[in-house]
Parts: sequence; C-alpha cells; structure tokens
Amino acid sequence: MPVTKAVIPAAGFGTRFLPATKSVPKEMLPVVDTPTIQYVVEECVKSGITDILMVIGRGKRALEEHFYSSEELEKRLGDSGQVTLLENVRHISEMANIHFVWQKELNGLGDAVSHGRTFIGNDPFALLLGDTILKPTDSTKPILRQMMEVYEAKKSSVVALEEVARDKVSRYGIAGGNGIADNIFALDQLVEKPSPEEAPSNLAVAARYIFQPEILDYLSKTPRGKNNEIQLTDAMAEMLKDHGMYGFRFAGKRYDIGNKLDFIKTNIELGLAHDDISGELAAYLKNIAAEL
Ligand code: UTP
Repeated sequence: MPVTKAVIPAAGFGTRFLPATKSVPKEMLPVVDTPTIQYVVEECVKSGITDILMVIGRGKRALEEHFYSSEELEKRLGDSGQVTLLENVRHISEMANIHFVWQKELNGLGDAVSHGRTFIGNDPFALLLGDTILKPTDSTKPILRQMMEVYEAKKSSVVALEEVARDKVSRYGIAGGNGIADNIFALDQLVEKPSPEEAPSNLAVAARYIFQPEILDYLSKTPRGKNNEIQLTDAMAEMLKDHGMYGFRFAGKRYDIGNKLDFIKTNIELGLAHDDISGELAAYLKNIAAEL
C-alpha cells in the first residue's frame, strides 16, 4: 500500500531559539523567503503524500494561518496584477489536505506522534520533523521519496540515517545494524543520545521516518524516558524487537533550523542556491570573509 499520509510534529517550545520563538513558531522562521515548514510540506507533496497532519500547540496558530487560503490577500495581489506572488500564495493552500491537532501538554516527540492515531488509522505513514529541511545531493528526488522506495521493497518501517562525528553522537538518536545493500541497513539497535562509548555506530536518526501503524501500539506502552518525555526512540527500540526496521543513509544534507547557528548556516547555503540572491550574496560573503 503506498504511503499517502504524513505527520509533522511542530508543537515543541523551541527553547534553543528564544526569544524569537516566544511568539513565533520556529517552524515559521524563514529560510530565504519561505518558512521552514513549507519546505517540509513541499518534500511531502513531491514524494506523493496527499494528506498531512500537523501537531501544533500553544503559540503555533501561525502555522494554521500559513496553510489556509487568504481571500483578502489573494484579492489584493490579483487587483494589483502581482501574478507570480498570487500563484505562490495560492499554491501554499492547495498543495495538500492539511489537518491540525492540538498537543495540549508537551510530553515529547513520541507523545506528539500518538496524537496522530485517528488520522493514521491502520495505514503506514511518513513522519517528518517540522524544523528540519533535508536537501538531496545529485538528485531531484526528495529524500522521503527515496525512503518510500525502500519501504515499498521491504514492507517494513524505514528511518533516515546521517553520519555524524563520533564526539557528537550524544545529541542524536543513534542506530546500530548491518549493511544489507548500498546505504541500506537492517537495524538491530536504537539508542537515544548515547555517550560516544555506548553508541552502536555514528549513524544518527535524521528527522524522517516511514512507519507501519504498529508504532502507535508501542508508543501507548512507552513510559516516560529522558527529560521525563515520551521518547519516540524508546518506542522504536521496543518495536525493533518484534518487527524489522531499516535504515536509509541518504545522500544529502540536513538543515536543523531549531538552533541559531544552524539556522544562519541554512540561510547562507540555501541563499547561495537561490536564483534571486545567489550572486550578490556570494560577493557579500567573499567581502566580509576577506575582512575577518
Ligand atoms: P525538538 O526537541 O527539536 O523541539 O523536537 P523543541 O522541543 O521545540 O526544541 P527545544 O529543544 O526546546 O529547542 C523535535 C520536533 O518535535 C516537535 C518539535 O516541534 C520539533 O519539530 N515536538 C517536540 C512536538 O511536536 N511536541 C513535543 O512535545 C516535543
């Protein structure tokens, strides 16, 4: 059965990006001229997803507004003949069926995913973190689409993996397993934020997942873990004991805009790839670099 549903958790506090995130959802922070969440939704749509559930919470209403159509704005753009902008704005609300659910208490990523139970039903689904952009290298195919191909071949859950430096493993969920094909691993271990000594590898779980619906049963039995939150990794580790799960080491780059340094780097790198500003931005960067 093809994957057509996606859940995007976007309810988190964004404490690493305060004070900006006191009233602005971090997922709405722009990369060049587009909110981060829109890149994530576009990745879904280009991969064949038709229905999206966003998990939101207090202070996150701007996400709803961004994806609903705004008649007043569209009329104004139409009246003033700004056709390209009008098309862009219309496209946002027409991309997919987008639904919202409210996570009242922020009990962690695992709890956010559990809020998708009614939406997911008995179907496989994609899970994409709303604060992370993945950009494939040497391919126009989104990473999620590439993962779907692994899912279709294996009929088991698939997680995106990224190699990280050994001394940084304690920031991520880390996977262990055996390579069974180019960039595909049969997983046998998942550990949340391990020390470099306990880490089974340097392959970090990277913001994209495709799950069989059974993950929800495991989540409902998962006790609070690190930070007193319901950790998705803990539920995945339990599921791994009974079900196969694969890791896909993608060729590309991950941009996590949830912290200020990576947010700035993301804007620079994607700005350099943006037709409107790349030339001037490159010249500017060369100038200031020469002065450092
Ligand atoms: P993060 O840990 O990166 O987000 O969660 P955060 O909690 O907002 O960030 P900091 O650490 O306080 O700066 C990863 C993703 O899971 C969502 C977040 O919105 C983010 O997209 N999330 C996290 C939820 O939806 N609900 C939660 O309870 C926790």
